[in-house]
Amino acid sequence: MEKDRKLIIAGNWKCNKTVAESVALVTDLKRELAAVKEVDIVVCPAFTALDAVSHAIIESNIRLGAQNMGDNGYGAFTGEVAPGMLRDLSVRYVILGHSERRQYQKESDELVARKAAAAHTANLIPIVCVGETLNEREAGITEQVVEKQVRGSLAGLTPEQVEATVVAYEPVWAIGTGKTASSAQAQEVHAFIRRVLVQMHGESVARRVRIQYGGSVKASNAREILSQPDVDGALVGGASLEAKGFVDLIRNSI
Ligand code: PGA
Repeated sequence: MEKDRKLIIAGNWKCNKTVAESVALVTDLKRELAAVKEVDIVVCPAFTALDAVSHAIIESNIRLGAQNMGDNGYGAFTGEVAPGMLRDLSVRYVILGHSERRQYQKESDELVARKAAAAHTANLIPIVCVGETLNEREAGITEQVVEKQVRGSLAGLTPEQVEATVVAYEPVWAIGTGKTASSAQAQEVHAFIRRVLVQMHGESVARRVRIQYGGSVKASNAREILSQPDVDGALVGGASLEAKGFVDLIRNSI
């Protein structure tokens, strides 16, 4: 099946790397990936490295993403980072509702939806993460869980905003575990998410939404997963922390 959606591969560096290490990594990526036009390439460093990485990727094909942001604007919100502050650093994307934040910071679908709306208002593209735990998969409730997250985390967005949102399906049991969903398992849930999007906003919006897969994606399994008709990219943790692994992953995806 021909995909009319451009692949988007994002590296989620999580809570890793000093500023110097971040700049060194992105400088290698910039050199090695300069010729890649087929894929939108995004790196998501820690907040502390955003400014330096932003400068390092000027005039390159690499775009900048953050891993979280506050749901409010500027103001008396100690410890928060406002969407406008990210725009100020030329950030284009922001990961929202990653399962680690849902688990450790108790982020709810409602909060993720408020952040997603705030991101769009600031002209940032949210990457909204959803995915079931192992217990939920084994209990046979993957679709219920994912549908609730998709509907709840995109609630209140306009059809235009949903169309411009990236959804990341990341089964929690596959994150950082070395266990990847099979390409058939991934495709099944991606197609299901697209059906939910059709119900929410109709065929033409749902057809345009890019749905990334995340969970132990690496150079050796990327091609097979990304060849699935409803898989439009990858959100990559561990395999994005080292230049060679991420470069090979992207090259293998084209
Ligand atoms: P992983 O992480 O690639 O290390 O499994 C993916 C993610 O958490 O986004």
